[in-house]
Amino acid sequence: STAESNALRTPIVAVLGHVDHGKTTLLDTIRGSAVSEGEAGAITQHIGATAVPLETVSEMAGDLVDPTDFDLPGLLFIDTPGHHSFTTLRSRGGALADIAVVVVDVNDGFQPQTIEALEILQRTGTPFVVAANKIDTTPGWNPNDGRPIQETYEKQSQNAKSRLDENLYEIIGDLSDEGFSADLYWRVQNFTKNVGVVPLSAITNEGVPDLLAVLMGLSQRYMKEQMAVDVTGPGAGTVLEVKDERGFGATVDVVLYDGSVRADDRIVVGGIDGPIVTEVRALLQPRPNAEIRVEKRFDKVDEVRAAAGIKIAAPELDDAMAGAPIRVVRDRDLDDVIEEVESELAEIQVSTEEEGVVVKADTLGSLEAMANALREAEVPILRAEVGDVAPRDVAVASTANEEKHRVILGFNVDVLSNAETELDESEVRLFDDDVIYQLVEGYEEYVDEIER
Ligand code: GTP
Ligand code: MG
Repeated sequence: STAESNALRTPIVAVLGHVDHGKTTLLDTIRGSAVSEGEAGAITQHIGATAVPLETVSEMAGDLVDPTDFDLPGLLFIDTPGHHSFTTLRSRGGALADIAVVVVDVNDGFQPQTIEALEILQRTGTPFVVAANKIDTTPGWNPNDGRPIQETYEKQSQNAKSRLDENLYEIIGDLSDEGFSADLYWRVQNFTKNVGVVPLSAITNEGVPDLLAVLMGLSQRYMKEQMAVDVTGPGAGTVLEVKDERGFGATVDVVLYDGSVRADDRIVVGGIDGPIVTEVRALLQPRPNAEIRVEKRFDKVDEVRAAAGIKIAAPELDDAMAGAPIRVVRDRDLDDVIEEVESELAEIQVSTEEEGVVVKADTLGSLEAMANALREAEVPILRAEVGDVAPRDVAVASTANEEKHRVILGFNVDVLSNAETELDESEVRLFDDDVIYQLVEGYEEYVDEIER
């Protein structure tokens, strides 16, 4: 009706890749922060979101981008932990992200999570570019901070050039093995058909202008139609994390991917025991270029429009689940909205059996990934839930008939103190890890041992 509802939605850009390949550092470079340095063991534990305005993007992209060519408001970057499954990044349509950046360490090349990321992108049909990161570690490399890749490449010695070329062609070859036709990005004509590889360094910022130019071009050129949605309608989003905030109690960090949410809206959120119906108490928006995951200062706002990372404070959110859907009710029928959330939760429900192990995970996405890994390993599940290990879990696990099933497999969760006592006093064994395949392997070794 008005120019307002014709506003384009901010594209959502997921940054994926293997542990330590430089996802958070790359985002730090783009937003001008140092989130990576503050992380325990420099490992990202939770998915984060950062809104980067068009001005920031075009400033950094320099001559490679003319901001007047663009009418998108900027980019919403989603940071993901390399050791996790990103199935949490689901939305009503399938994939939460409109486009993705797969970060690959040029020296380290393809690793398990690189391949996992590519499989997810292929399955969801998400267009992506590859950031071939850490080019500054090429032997003999002479950095030219913040310069476009071709400019700095031309200034390198023959030896450094061929070392880098070798690594880049290996990445292009590995992409082709995964079924993607890829090339250095400046040779790519159509980014939806071919994958562009952008050599860069998140430390010296060489090639970062190129990446931003490619992302802006890609979203402006191919996403514009998709972005022309009504960003004022009742919002839809995905919960990233449930967190206690002083003065607010339990809050949820959300990626809003459609419509809007207002400070007086009624919302329905996916919870451990089904949909939670509640009223927004406060909408807390991180400042531009701030990572919602670590931000301490939020602006209290009346309305937020997609796409955005937003912290929502509301009563009854204690049992909300990371990875679950969130919907704004507004002028719709409450029952319809509850049904919508219910059916989405049902899609991600893990099927359980009469005999099996107890599984606890930190998010709905990781629970789903755990269930898949256990199904592949032919391990039956008695109970699967999001949340920390509670006394109830110990009680349930101790009812299993077989010794090998009297276990709790905890992914990225804590053990509540009263559950610890129960664990000590019962026969139940706890396996915990923050890497899924290690958790499953550890359990399988245990089963081998007791069956020997
Ligand atoms: P996870 O969140 O654990 O999956 O890792 P990540 O992909 O976010 O990696 P992160 O950004 O934390 O970087 C891992 C390490 O690589 C850090 O010590 C960074 O300083 C370093 N690093 C990242 N990018 C570069 C780069 O371009 N050049 C060099 N030399 N080091 C880099
Ligand atoms: Mg990280």
